[in-house]
Amino acid sequence: MADMPNKPLPPLHPGTKQPVGPADLEPIFPMELIKQEVSAEQYIEIPEQVQDIYKLWRPTPLVRAYGLEKALDTPAKIYYKYEGVSPAGSHKPNTAVAQAYYNKAQGVKRITTETGAGQWGTALSFACAQFGLECEIYMVKISYNQKPYRKIMMNTFGAEVFASPSDRTNAGRAILAQDPSSSGSLGIAISEAVERAVADEHTKYSLGSVLNHVLMHQTIIGQEAIKQMEYAGDFPDIVIAPLGGGSNFAGISFPFLQHKLLGKRDVRCIAVEPASCPKLTKGVFMYDFGDTAGYTPLLPMFTLGHNFRPASIHAGGLRYHGASVICSQLLKDGLIEAVALQQLECFKAGITFSKTEGIIPAPEATHAIAQVIREAELAKKEGKAKTILFNLCGHGFVDMQAYSDYLEGKLSDHHLTESELTANLAELNPLQPK
Ligand SMILES: Cc1ncc(COP(=O)(O)O)c(C=O)c1O
Repeated sequence: MADMPNKPLPPLHPGTKQPVGPADLEPIFPMELIKQEVSAEQYIEIPEQVQDIYKLWRPTPLVRAYGLEKALDTPAKIYYKYEGVSPAGSHKPNTAVAQAYYNKAQGVKRITTETGAGQWGTALSFACAQFGLECEIYMVKISYNQKPYRKIMMNTFGAEVFASPSDRTNAGRAILAQDPSSSGSLGIAISEAVERAVADEHTKYSLGSVLNHVLMHQTIIGQEAIKQMEYAGDFPDIVIAPLGGGSNFAGISFPFLQHKLLGKRDVRCIAVEPASCPKLTKGVFMYDFGDTAGYTPLLPMFTLGHNFRPASIHAGGLRYHGASVICSQLLKDGLIEAVALQQLECFKAGITFSKTEGIIPAPEATHAIAQVIREAELAKKEGKAKTILFNLCGHGFVDMQAYSDYLEGKLSDHHLTESELTANLAELNPLQPK
Protein backbone atom coordinates (compact mmCIF):
# COMPACT_ATOMS: atom_id res chain seq x y z
CA MET A 1 0.00 0.00 0.00
CA ALA A 2 2.89 2.32 0.82
CA ASP A 3 4.03 2.27 -2.80
CA MET A 4 0.68 2.25 -4.62
CA PRO A 5 0.06 5.32 -6.82
CA ASN A 6 -3.66 5.25 -5.96
CA LYS A 7 -4.37 4.12 -2.40
CA PRO A 8 -7.34 1.82 -1.88
CA LEU A 9 -10.65 3.47 -0.95
CA PRO A 10 -11.60 2.99 2.73
CA PRO A 11 -13.96 0.26 3.97
CA LEU A 12 -17.34 1.75 4.88
CA HIS A 13 -19.81 1.13 7.68
CA PRO A 14 -22.91 -0.30 5.95
CA GLY A 15 -25.26 1.82 8.07
CA THR A 16 -23.58 5.23 7.97
CA LYS A 17 -21.56 4.73 4.75
CA GLN A 18 -18.71 6.42 6.62
CA PRO A 19 -15.20 4.91 6.77
CA VAL A 20 -14.96 2.31 9.58
CA GLY A 21 -12.63 3.18 12.44
CA PRO A 22 -10.56 0.92 14.70
CA ALA A 23 -13.33 0.91 17.33
CA ASP A 24 -15.73 -0.72 14.83
CA LEU A 25 -13.32 -3.61 14.33
CA GLU A 26 -12.19 -4.04 17.95
CA PRO A 27 -14.88 -6.56 18.98
CA ILE A 28 -13.58 -9.05 16.42
CA PHE A 29 -9.85 -8.37 15.80
CA PRO A 30 -6.89 -7.64 18.13
CA MET A 31 -5.59 -4.06 17.93
CA GLU A 32 -2.20 -4.90 16.39
CA LEU A 33 -3.92 -6.52 13.41
CA ILE A 34 -6.29 -3.55 13.07
CA LYS A 35 -3.23 -1.27 12.99
CA GLN A 36 -1.63 -3.45 10.33
CA GLU A 37 -4.84 -3.29 8.31
CA VAL A 38 -4.45 0.48 7.88
CA SER A 39 -0.67 0.76 8.08
CA ALA A 40 1.14 2.94 5.55
CA GLU A 41 4.55 1.49 6.47
CA GLN A 42 6.59 -0.17 3.73
CA TYR A 43 7.79 -2.90 6.11
CA ILE A 44 6.56 -4.32 9.40
CA GLU A 45 8.99 -6.45 11.41
CA ILE A 46 8.06 -10.13 11.84
CA PRO A 47 8.05 -10.92 15.61
CA GLU A 48 10.80 -13.30 16.67
CA GLN A 49 8.36 -15.89 18.05
CA VAL A 50 6.59 -15.98 14.68
CA GLN A 51 9.92 -16.35 12.87
CA ASP A 52 10.78 -19.28 15.18
CA ILE A 53 7.59 -21.09 14.21
CA TYR A 54 8.13 -20.30 10.53
CA LYS A 55 11.44 -22.15 10.84
CA LEU A 56 9.48 -25.42 11.00
CA TRP A 57 8.99 -25.12 7.22
CA ARG A 58 10.48 -21.81 6.04
CA PRO A 59 12.24 -20.86 3.89
CA THR A 60 10.17 -22.86 1.43
CA PRO A 61 11.95 -24.23 -1.63
CA LEU A 62 12.28 -22.27 -4.86
CA VAL A 63 12.54 -24.87 -7.59
CA ARG A 64 13.48 -24.62 -11.27
CA ALA A 65 10.92 -26.78 -13.09
CA TYR A 66 13.36 -28.39 -15.51
CA GLY A 67 11.05 -31.38 -16.06
CA LEU A 68 8.12 -29.20 -17.03
CA GLU A 69 10.31 -26.99 -19.24
CA LYS A 70 11.57 -30.09 -21.06
CA ALA A 71 8.09 -31.53 -21.53
CA LEU A 72 6.89 -28.23 -23.00
CA ASP A 73 10.04 -27.84 -25.11
CA THR A 74 9.98 -24.14 -24.28
CA PRO A 75 12.72 -21.51 -24.26
CA ALA A 76 11.09 -20.10 -21.10
CA LYS A 77 12.67 -20.67 -17.69
CA ILE A 78 10.06 -21.77 -15.16
CA TYR A 79 10.51 -21.47 -11.39
CA TYR A 80 8.03 -22.29 -8.65
CA LYS A 81 7.88 -21.43 -4.97
CA TYR A 82 6.55 -24.45 -3.07
CA GLU A 83 4.31 -23.52 -0.13
CA GLY A 84 2.96 -27.08 0.22
CA VAL A 85 5.74 -27.96 2.69
CA SER A 86 3.91 -26.13 5.51
CA PRO A 87 2.11 -28.03 8.30
CA ALA A 88 -1.26 -27.46 6.60
CA GLY A 89 0.09 -28.16 3.10
CA SER A 90 -0.47 -24.62 1.79
CA HIS A 91 0.48 -20.95 2.23
CA LYS A 92 -2.27 -20.41 4.81
CA PRO A 93 -0.15 -20.94 7.98
CA ASN A 94 1.95 -17.85 7.09
CA THR A 95 -0.90 -15.64 8.26
CA ALA A 96 -2.48 -18.10 10.71
CA VAL A 97 0.67 -18.11 12.87
CA ALA A 98 0.99 -14.32 12.77
CA GLN A 99 -2.69 -13.86 13.63
CA ALA A 100 -2.55 -16.36 16.51
CA TYR A 101 0.55 -14.57 17.84
CA TYR A 102 -1.11 -11.14 17.96
CA ASN A 103 -4.27 -12.58 19.51
CA LYS A 104 -2.26 -14.36 22.20
CA ALA A 105 -0.25 -11.19 22.88
CA GLN A 106 -3.52 -9.35 23.59
CA GLY A 107 -4.69 -12.04 26.04
CA VAL A 108 -7.31 -13.60 23.77
CA LYS A 109 -8.26 -17.16 24.79
CA ARG A 110 -10.15 -18.49 21.77
CA ILE A 111 -10.25 -17.84 18.02
CA THR A 112 -13.20 -18.63 15.78
CA THR A 113 -13.20 -18.94 12.02
CA GLU A 114 -15.00 -20.46 9.07
CA THR A 115 -13.58 -22.91 6.60
CA GLY A 116 -14.82 -24.25 3.30
CA ALA A 117 -12.96 -27.34 2.22
CA GLY A 118 -10.69 -27.07 5.26
CA GLN A 119 -7.33 -25.60 4.19
CA TRP A 120 -7.71 -22.44 6.23
CA GLY A 121 -9.20 -24.25 9.23
CA THR A 122 -6.25 -26.65 9.25
CA ALA A 123 -3.78 -23.75 9.20
CA LEU A 124 -5.47 -21.89 12.03
CA SER A 125 -5.80 -25.07 14.15
CA PHE A 126 -2.06 -25.63 13.85
CA ALA A 127 -1.32 -21.98 14.69
CA CYS A 128 -3.58 -22.01 17.76
CA ALA A 129 -1.88 -25.18 18.99
CA GLN A 130 1.45 -23.32 18.86
CA PHE A 131 0.17 -20.63 21.24
CA GLY A 132 -2.13 -22.69 23.49
CA LEU A 133 -5.25 -20.97 22.10
CA GLU A 134 -8.62 -22.65 21.74
CA CYS A 135 -9.83 -22.85 18.14
CA GLU A 136 -13.49 -23.10 17.11
CA ILE A 137 -14.20 -23.73 13.45
CA TYR A 138 -17.43 -23.55 11.45
CA MET A 139 -17.02 -25.81 8.44
CA VAL A 140 -19.47 -25.62 5.55
CA LYS A 141 -21.72 -28.65 6.09
CA ILE A 142 -21.38 -30.15 2.64
CA SER A 143 -17.57 -30.23 2.98
CA TYR A 144 -17.82 -31.43 6.59
CA ASN A 145 -19.74 -34.47 5.33
CA GLN A 146 -17.89 -35.03 2.06
CA LYS A 147 -14.28 -34.21 3.06
CA PRO A 148 -13.67 -35.82 6.46
CA TYR A 149 -9.86 -35.84 6.30
CA ARG A 150 -9.40 -32.08 6.67
CA LYS A 151 -11.74 -32.15 9.68
CA ILE A 152 -9.64 -34.90 11.25
CA MET A 153 -6.49 -32.82 10.63
CA MET A 154 -8.10 -29.89 12.47
CA ASN A 155 -9.14 -32.17 15.35
CA THR A 156 -5.61 -33.59 15.49
CA PHE A 157 -4.24 -30.07 15.94
CA GLY A 158 -6.78 -29.64 18.78
CA ALA A 159 -9.57 -27.59 17.20
CA GLU A 160 -13.31 -28.07 17.66
CA VAL A 161 -15.06 -28.31 14.31
CA PHE A 162 -18.79 -27.78 13.80
CA ALA A 163 -20.82 -28.38 10.66
CA SER A 164 -22.36 -25.07 9.57
CA PRO A 165 -25.22 -24.15 9.79
CA SER A 166 -25.10 -25.29 13.43
CA ASP A 167 -27.52 -24.85 16.32
CA ARG A 168 -24.84 -22.98 18.32
CA THR A 169 -25.60 -19.50 16.91
CA ASN A 170 -28.62 -17.34 16.07
CA ALA A 171 -27.43 -17.18 12.47
CA GLY A 172 -27.17 -20.96 12.24
CA ARG A 173 -30.50 -21.61 13.99
CA ALA A 174 -32.29 -19.13 11.71
CA ILE A 175 -31.03 -20.93 8.61
CA LEU A 176 -31.91 -24.34 10.04
CA ALA A 177 -35.42 -23.15 10.90
CA GLN A 178 -35.92 -22.12 7.26
CA ASP A 179 -34.18 -25.12 5.77
CA PRO A 180 -33.30 -27.99 8.13
CA SER A 181 -31.33 -29.73 5.38
CA SER A 182 -29.23 -26.67 4.41
CA SER A 183 -25.80 -27.76 3.20
CA GLY A 184 -24.33 -24.42 4.28
CA SER A 185 -22.13 -21.83 2.61
CA LEU A 186 -19.02 -19.83 3.43
CA GLY A 187 -21.23 -16.80 4.04
CA ILE A 188 -23.27 -18.61 6.70
CA ALA A 189 -20.15 -20.06 8.33
CA ILE A 190 -18.59 -16.56 8.53
CA SER A 191 -21.75 -15.25 10.19
CA GLU A 192 -21.59 -18.04 12.81
CA ALA A 193 -17.89 -17.51 13.55
CA VAL A 194 -18.27 -13.71 13.81
CA GLU A 195 -21.34 -14.04 16.05
CA ARG A 196 -19.44 -16.28 18.48
CA ALA A 197 -16.52 -13.83 18.62
CA VAL A 198 -18.73 -10.80 19.24
CA ALA A 199 -20.59 -12.60 22.04
CA ASP A 200 -17.51 -13.29 24.21
CA GLU A 201 -14.85 -10.80 25.25
CA HIS A 202 -12.15 -13.51 25.35
CA THR A 203 -12.89 -14.69 21.81
CA LYS A 204 -11.81 -13.09 18.52
CA TYR A 205 -12.43 -13.93 14.88
CA SER A 206 -9.84 -14.63 12.21
CA LEU A 207 -10.04 -14.44 8.41
CA GLY A 208 -7.74 -16.39 6.08
CA SER A 209 -7.66 -14.06 3.06
CA VAL A 210 -8.91 -10.76 1.55
CA LEU A 211 -7.90 -8.35 4.36
CA ASN A 212 -4.80 -6.16 4.02
CA HIS A 213 -3.01 -7.63 7.04
CA VAL A 214 -3.52 -11.17 5.73
CA LEU A 215 -2.00 -10.24 2.36
CA MET A 216 0.89 -8.53 4.13
CA HIS A 217 1.68 -11.63 6.22
CA GLN A 218 1.84 -13.65 3.01
CA THR A 219 4.46 -11.39 1.40
CA ILE A 220 7.13 -13.48 3.12
CA ILE A 221 6.66 -15.77 0.09
CA GLY A 222 7.78 -13.11 -2.38
CA GLN A 223 10.47 -11.71 -0.06
CA GLU A 224 12.10 -15.13 0.10
CA ALA A 225 11.63 -15.70 -3.62
CA ILE A 226 13.48 -12.47 -4.45
CA LYS A 227 16.48 -13.62 -2.40
CA GLN A 228 16.36 -17.13 -3.84
CA MET A 229 16.14 -15.83 -7.40
CA GLU A 230 19.11 -13.60 -6.66
CA TYR A 231 21.09 -16.76 -5.74
CA ALA A 232 20.03 -18.18 -9.10
CA GLY A 233 21.04 -14.92 -10.82
CA ASP A 234 17.52 -14.40 -12.13
CA PHE A 235 14.49 -12.12 -11.87
CA PRO A 236 11.08 -13.05 -13.26
CA ASP A 237 9.47 -11.33 -16.25
CA ILE A 238 6.14 -12.83 -15.20
CA VAL A 239 4.78 -13.82 -11.75
CA ILE A 240 1.67 -16.01 -11.71
CA ALA A 241 -0.60 -17.20 -8.86
CA PRO A 242 -4.21 -18.32 -8.41
CA LEU A 243 -6.60 -15.88 -6.77
CA GLY A 244 -9.41 -16.74 -4.38
CA GLY A 245 -9.49 -13.76 -2.03
CA GLY A 246 -6.01 -12.64 -3.10
CA SER A 247 -3.62 -13.66 -0.33
CA ASN A 248 -1.27 -16.12 -2.07
CA PHE A 249 -1.25 -13.97 -5.23
CA ALA A 250 -0.34 -10.91 -3.16
CA GLY A 251 2.12 -12.97 -1.14
CA ILE A 252 4.27 -13.94 -4.07
CA SER A 253 3.73 -10.97 -6.38
CA PHE A 254 3.69 -7.81 -4.24
CA PRO A 255 7.41 -7.82 -3.35
CA PHE A 256 8.19 -8.09 -7.10
CA LEU A 257 5.51 -5.55 -8.00
CA GLN A 258 7.22 -3.09 -5.66
CA HIS A 259 10.16 -3.05 -8.12
CA LYS A 260 7.76 -2.02 -10.86
CA LEU A 261 5.97 0.61 -8.75
CA LEU A 262 9.31 2.15 -7.76
CA GLY A 263 10.44 2.17 -11.40
CA LYS A 264 13.29 -0.30 -10.79
CA ARG A 265 12.21 -3.22 -13.00
CA ASP A 266 9.22 -4.18 -15.04
CA VAL A 267 7.31 -7.33 -14.15
CA ARG A 268 3.94 -8.71 -15.24
CA CYS A 269 1.87 -10.11 -12.36
CA ILE A 270 -1.00 -12.35 -13.46
CA ALA A 271 -3.81 -13.48 -11.13
CA VAL A 272 -5.64 -16.60 -12.30
CA GLU A 273 -9.26 -17.16 -11.33
CA PRO A 274 -11.72 -19.92 -12.23
CA ALA A 275 -14.02 -19.18 -15.17
CA SER A 276 -16.93 -20.18 -12.91
CA CYS A 277 -16.16 -17.39 -10.41
CA PRO A 278 -14.68 -14.60 -12.57
CA LYS A 279 -14.85 -11.52 -10.35
CA LEU A 280 -11.67 -9.95 -11.75
CA THR A 281 -12.40 -10.49 -15.43
CA LYS A 282 -16.21 -10.23 -15.47
CA GLY A 283 -17.16 -8.62 -12.16
CA VAL A 284 -17.72 -4.94 -11.33
CA PHE A 285 -15.63 -2.61 -9.16
CA MET A 286 -18.09 -1.53 -6.44
CA TYR A 287 -18.58 -1.46 -2.69
CA ASP A 288 -19.85 -4.87 -1.51
CA PHE A 289 -20.04 -6.99 1.62
CA GLY A 290 -17.24 -9.47 2.25
CA ASP A 291 -19.74 -12.12 3.38
CA THR A 292 -23.13 -13.32 2.24
CA ALA A 293 -24.99 -12.32 5.39
CA GLY A 294 -23.85 -8.69 5.20
CA TYR A 295 -22.12 -8.54 8.61
CA THR A 296 -18.78 -7.18 7.36
CA PRO A 297 -17.89 -3.59 6.39
CA LEU A 298 -18.45 -2.62 2.76
CA LEU A 299 -15.28 -3.15 0.75
CA PRO A 300 -14.38 -1.46 -2.56
CA MET A 301 -13.55 -4.43 -4.74
CA PHE A 302 -14.14 -6.35 -7.94
CA THR A 303 -17.15 -8.47 -7.11
CA LEU A 304 -19.87 -10.65 -8.57
CA GLY A 305 -22.20 -9.68 -5.71
CA HIS A 306 -22.26 -11.17 -2.21
CA ASN A 307 -25.16 -13.41 -3.17
CA PHE A 308 -23.33 -14.88 -6.18
CA ARG A 309 -23.32 -18.68 -5.84
CA PRO A 310 -20.35 -20.17 -7.70
CA ALA A 311 -20.76 -23.58 -9.28
CA SER A 312 -19.22 -26.30 -7.14
CA ILE A 313 -15.94 -26.62 -9.01
CA HIS A 314 -13.20 -28.55 -7.28
CA ALA A 315 -10.93 -25.60 -6.48
CA GLY A 316 -12.94 -24.73 -3.37
CA GLY A 317 -10.49 -22.04 -2.26
CA LEU A 318 -11.17 -19.97 -5.38
CA ARG A 319 -14.95 -19.87 -4.98
CA TYR A 320 -15.22 -16.42 -3.38
CA HIS A 321 -17.40 -13.65 -4.81
CA GLY A 322 -14.94 -10.74 -4.35
CA ALA A 323 -11.24 -9.93 -4.55
CA SER A 324 -9.12 -8.18 -1.93
CA VAL A 325 -9.28 -4.39 -1.91
CA ILE A 326 -5.59 -3.95 -2.74
CA CYS A 327 -5.65 -6.46 -5.63
CA SER A 328 -8.83 -4.81 -6.93
CA GLN A 329 -7.29 -1.31 -6.93
CA LEU A 330 -4.12 -2.59 -8.63
CA LEU A 331 -6.18 -4.26 -11.35
CA LYS A 332 -8.29 -1.13 -11.82
CA ASP A 333 -5.07 0.85 -12.28
CA GLY A 334 -3.70 -1.62 -14.83
CA LEU A 335 -0.75 -2.60 -12.62
CA ILE A 336 -1.63 -6.30 -12.49
CA GLU A 337 -3.40 -8.60 -14.96
CA ALA A 338 -6.11 -11.22 -14.55
CA VAL A 339 -7.25 -14.25 -16.54
CA ALA A 340 -10.06 -16.76 -15.99
CA LEU A 341 -9.53 -20.44 -16.84
CA GLN A 342 -11.79 -23.47 -17.05
CA GLN A 343 -11.21 -26.34 -14.65
CA LEU A 344 -10.56 -29.07 -17.26
CA GLU A 345 -7.55 -27.15 -18.63
CA CYS A 346 -6.36 -26.64 -15.05
CA PHE A 347 -6.58 -30.31 -14.03
CA LYS A 348 -4.84 -31.31 -17.27
CA ALA A 349 -2.03 -28.90 -16.34
CA GLY A 350 -1.98 -30.33 -12.81
CA ILE A 351 -1.48 -33.84 -14.19
CA THR A 352 1.34 -32.67 -16.50
CA PHE A 353 3.01 -31.00 -13.51
CA SER A 354 2.57 -34.11 -11.31
CA LYS A 355 4.23 -36.29 -13.92
CA THR A 356 7.10 -33.93 -14.70
CA GLU A 357 7.85 -32.42 -11.26
CA GLY A 358 6.57 -35.15 -8.91
CA ILE A 359 4.23 -33.03 -6.82
CA ILE A 360 0.45 -33.34 -7.09
CA PRO A 361 -0.75 -29.73 -6.85
CA ALA A 362 -3.80 -28.45 -4.98
CA PRO A 363 -6.67 -27.83 -7.43
CA GLU A 364 -6.30 -24.09 -6.71
CA ALA A 365 -2.61 -24.21 -7.70
CA THR A 366 -3.40 -25.95 -11.01
CA HIS A 367 -4.89 -22.63 -12.17
CA ALA A 368 -1.45 -21.03 -11.95
CA ILE A 369 0.17 -23.98 -13.70
CA ALA A 370 -2.28 -23.84 -16.61
CA GLN A 371 -1.44 -20.16 -17.16
CA VAL A 372 2.29 -20.91 -16.88
CA ILE A 373 1.89 -23.51 -19.63
CA ARG A 374 0.06 -20.96 -21.81
CA GLU A 375 2.88 -18.44 -21.32
CA ALA A 376 5.60 -21.06 -21.94
CA GLU A 377 3.89 -22.18 -25.14
CA LEU A 378 3.61 -18.57 -26.28
CA ALA A 379 7.33 -18.09 -25.58
CA LYS A 380 8.03 -21.07 -27.82
CA LYS A 381 5.80 -19.75 -30.60
CA GLU A 382 7.41 -16.32 -30.42
CA GLY A 383 10.90 -17.80 -29.99
CA LYS A 384 11.42 -15.62 -26.91
CA ALA A 385 13.23 -16.58 -23.72
CA LYS A 386 11.40 -15.36 -20.64
CA THR A 387 11.52 -16.16 -16.95
CA ILE A 388 8.30 -17.23 -15.27
CA LEU A 389 7.78 -17.64 -11.53
CA PHE A 390 4.62 -19.11 -10.05
CA ASN A 391 3.28 -19.91 -6.62
CA LEU A 392 2.67 -23.60 -6.02
CA CYS A 393 0.49 -22.52 -3.12
CA GLY A 394 -0.42 -26.00 -1.90
CA HIS A 395 -0.25 -29.73 -2.52
CA GLY A 396 -3.31 -31.75 -3.41
CA PHE A 397 -2.78 -34.80 -1.19
CA VAL A 398 -6.09 -34.26 0.59
CA ASP A 399 -7.85 -33.47 -2.70
CA MET A 400 -7.65 -36.91 -4.26
CA GLN A 401 -11.42 -37.04 -4.84
CA ALA A 402 -11.02 -34.10 -7.23
CA TYR A 403 -8.31 -35.93 -9.19
CA SER A 404 -10.36 -39.13 -9.14
CA ASP A 405 -13.38 -37.27 -10.56
CA TYR A 406 -11.18 -35.69 -13.25
CA LEU A 407 -9.55 -38.98 -14.22
CA GLU A 408 -12.94 -40.70 -14.41
CA GLY A 409 -14.24 -37.96 -16.72
CA LYS A 410 -16.82 -36.73 -14.21
CA LEU A 411 -15.77 -33.05 -14.24
CA SER A 412 -16.95 -30.49 -16.74
CA ASP A 413 -16.27 -26.85 -17.59
CA HIS A 414 -18.73 -24.21 -16.53
CA HIS A 415 -19.88 -21.39 -18.81
CA LEU A 416 -21.71 -18.63 -16.98
CA THR A 417 -24.58 -16.97 -18.78
CA GLU A 418 -24.89 -13.17 -18.87
CA SER A 419 -27.88 -13.34 -16.53
CA GLU A 420 -25.97 -15.53 -14.02
CA LEU A 421 -23.19 -12.94 -14.07
CA THR A 422 -25.41 -9.92 -13.54
CA ALA A 423 -28.17 -11.41 -11.34
CA ASN A 424 -26.59 -10.28 -8.07
CA LEU A 425 -25.25 -6.89 -9.11
CA ALA A 426 -28.40 -4.72 -8.98
CA GLU A 427 -28.63 -5.11 -5.20
CA LEU A 428 -25.20 -3.46 -4.89
CA ASN A 429 -26.51 -0.06 -6.08
CA PRO A 430 -28.07 0.94 -2.73
CA LEU A 431 -24.80 0.01 -0.97
CA GLN A 432 -22.76 2.65 -2.82
CA PRO A 433 -21.85 5.90 -1.03
CA LYS A 434 -23.63 8.96 -2.42
C1 LIG B 1 -4.33 -24.10 -1.70
C2 LIG B 1 -5.08 -22.81 -1.81
N1 LIG B 1 -4.71 -21.94 -2.75
C3 LIG B 1 -5.35 -20.78 -2.93
C4 LIG B 1 -6.42 -20.42 -2.13
C5 LIG B 1 -7.11 -19.12 -2.42
O1 LIG B 1 -7.03 -18.18 -1.42
P1 LIG B 1 -6.12 -16.90 -1.56
O2 LIG B 1 -6.54 -16.16 -2.80
O3 LIG B 1 -6.38 -16.14 -0.32
O4 LIG B 1 -4.71 -17.35 -1.65
C6 LIG B 1 -6.84 -21.28 -1.10
C7 LIG B 1 -7.95 -20.90 -0.22
O5 LIG B 1 -8.47 -21.65 0.56
C8 LIG B 1 -6.16 -22.51 -0.94
O6 LIG B 1 -6.52 -23.37 0.01
